Amino acid sequence: YPLMHPKHEHWTFAGPLGHYDKGQLQRGLKVYTEVCAACHSMSLVPFRTLGALGYSDAQVKALAANYEVQDGPNASGDMFTRKAIPSDHFPSPFPNHEAAAAANNGAAPPDFSLIAKARGIERGFPQFLIDMIPFVGGYQEGGPDYIYSLLTGYDQQPPAGVQVAEGTHYNPYFAGAAALAMPKPLSDGQVTYDDGSPATVDQYAKDVASFLMWAAEPHLEERKRTGFMVMVFLVIFSGLIYLTKRSVYANKE
Ligand code: HEM
Repeated sequence: YPLMHPKHEHWTFAGPLGHYDKGQLQRGLKVYTEVCAACHSMSLVPFRTLGALGYSDAQVKALAANYEVQDGPNASGDMFTRKAIPSDHFPSPFPNHEAAAAANNGAAPPDFSLIAKARGIERGFPQFLIDMIPFVGGYQEGGPDYIYSLLTGYDQQPPAGVQVAEGTHYNPYFAGAAALAMPKPLSDGQVTYDDGSPATVDQYAKDVASFLMWAAEPHLEERKRTGFMVMVFLVIFSGLIYLTKRSVYANKE
């Protein structure tokens, strides 16, 4: 099948001094909550971490309260549903994996906690190399590039000879096959932004991909800053060692 390489977007969090744009992360959270959360969980991410997006404690409580979670057993041994609180994690909309698959033509929607990293190795880079250069951040873009490309890659005609199985949707960026079980999730105007950003599929896709990068790598900024300082230190230290060497060997002609 014709697999296309992800489009290369410009991300604020790319590069050695990359940082997240909080406004963008807030918009991405809105897209996730209003669209993707209908199918995709984010079970490793607690609501309390949303403070990092610039929300107050009261706002985090209100955001959590939009979700319902399973709890129990209570005193009489029953499970029950209640509104989520900040210590809960983004729940799955389905009771279990089988139900999730049954509702989606046999393919369960993957959990989003690490999706921006899990789908970040599409360019044929050896994984151990990616793991060795994380603070440089050269590769952070791979995952969001893929998510962005996938979300904006619908509405295309499959080339002649490519079979699209019933109940699946053609997308040349999908890494698994020619078509996937996820229907085109975004359309223009679907999510209302209050900061004047364009209400387009393109903008939604960028924002939610950035949000998913944050979900997978919440400490990216600190890590890059530390890495940068380490490099600065090493440069200065190398200079000092060189001067020391010169002074130690100065009269050993
Ligand atoms: C798969 C993103 C909304 C159902 C995926 C994948 C991503 C993704 C990145 C993984 C693709 C891969 O395996 O390479 C999103 C985003 C959404 C969204 C960002 C919101 C904007 C939805 C919705 C549904 C859904 C609303 C349900 C109607 C699925 C299913 C799969 C999937 C069933 C598995 C596809 C397969 O393996 O064939 N999604 N999704 N998604 N998504 Fe979504």
